Amino acid sequence: MTKRPILIHPDPRLKKVCASVPDLSDELRVLADDMLETMYDAPGIGLAAPQIGEMRRLIVLDCVKEEGEAPRPLVMFNPEIVASSDDLNTYEEGCLSIPEQYGEVTRPADVSVRWIDRNGNEQTEDFGGLWATCIQHEIDHLNGKLFIDYLKPLRRQMITRKMQKLKREMARG
Ligand code: NI
Repeated sequence: MTKRPILIHPDPRLKKVCASVPDLSDELRVLADDMLETMYDAPGIGLAAPQIGEMRRLIVLDCVKEEGEAPRPLVMFNPEIVASSDDLNTYEEGCLSIPEQYGEVTRPADVSVRWIDRNGNEQTEDFGGLWATCIQHEIDHLNGKLFIDYLKPLRRQMITRKMQKLKREMARG
């Protein structure tokens, strides 16, 4: 497995709608494994393919947080929210493409998700809590949407300016 560089906002690739994955291939499984490696290393609880410049509908996540609890790496090709609760939940969200910036986002508390797993099988499962938030955040990435798009314009501009500065510093090394 190979760790891949994570794109930092602002980047045009983070604003694009990604294409569906037609058929699973070994190449796509390697990409998913690379994404898990990259996510765990960061460390983060979710990562979407466009965040490493791969414009395909693929997300990985693992929201197990309890110490000593077994990890649950999930690989989702073509994930889709098929139902959302009326109940809402607000979480302080962050993003590996927007390091060290956080903001409160309100989303449906529970979602039913359909996806194609690593073996090419269709899965449907209900998620709540942090899992539900994380899945919605990652699917947003596949549609070119970032969590800061839910924040007030002024706050969003402030974060974007900080990220531009960070990128200039990174480019200088
Ligand atoms: Ni993100």
